[in-house]
Amino acid sequence: MGQGLLKPKYKILGSDMAGRVEAVGKNVEQFQPGDEVFGTLGDCGFGAYAEFVSVPIKKKQDLAPKPTNLTFDEAAAVPQAAVVALQGLRDKGQIQPGQKVLINGASGGNGTFAVQIAKSFGAEVTGVCSTRKMDMVRSIGARVLCTDITRLLTFYAHSFSFYNTRNE
Ligand SMILES: NC(=O)c1ccc[n+]([C@@H]2O[C@H](COP(=O)([O-])OP(=O)(O)OC[C@H]3O[C@@H](n4cnc5c(N)ncnc54)[C@H](OP(=O)(O)O)[C@@H]3O)[C@@H](O)[C@H]2O)c1
Repeated sequence: MGQGLLKPKYKILGSDMAGRVEAVGKNVEQFQPGDEVFGTLGDCGFGAYAEFVSVPIKKKQDLAPKPTNLTFDEAAAVPQAAVVALQGLRDKGQIQPGQKVLINGASGGNGTFAVQIAKSFGAEVTGVCSTRKMDMVRSIGARVLCTDITRLLTFYAHSFSFYNTRNE
């Protein structure tokens, strides 16, 4: 419904993006033409699939300098997927060192960030993914991996274990 009831609310889709600043408004002090930036347009009209985008500079920043060690492609893959994982683990989950954390969908956009963020908080991370992505998920730090056949059973087993850990 938020995307439009009878016709699409946004003509050009896409929220996450990275690029080089072409021009800035007269009140913009944080950025100047030529700066390499990345960010999300999810709160300001979408349109990241376009070649050029306009980003309103607000108090809650939607645009940041692109780290120099990331390509534009790499930077554009970060914003929402990483923030969703961070909000879930840190803000809502209040993750603590030593906790056992199960990441279901560890091979996906959210999941790959969730595995790495949980590890950085000192958690013991179990990732659930399909067989062909096991090596990749293991390479980003998940301790235990599950195959397609077992992942449903493992999900319930580890969910119970995480629940117990949180409620001890
Ligand atoms: N990415 C974002 O920016 C973002 C933002 C907000 C909300 N979300 C929501 O978060 C969810 C995940 O998004 P995503 O971007 O991470 O998706 P994704 O990159 O497509 O990853 C999907 C994950 O789910 C796993 N999966 C698929 N079928 C499964 C099954 N039957 N049983 C267990 N696992 C299964 C996949 O594992 P295999 O590939 O190994 O099979 C993969 O790890 C979606 O509902 C999406 O709408 C995403």
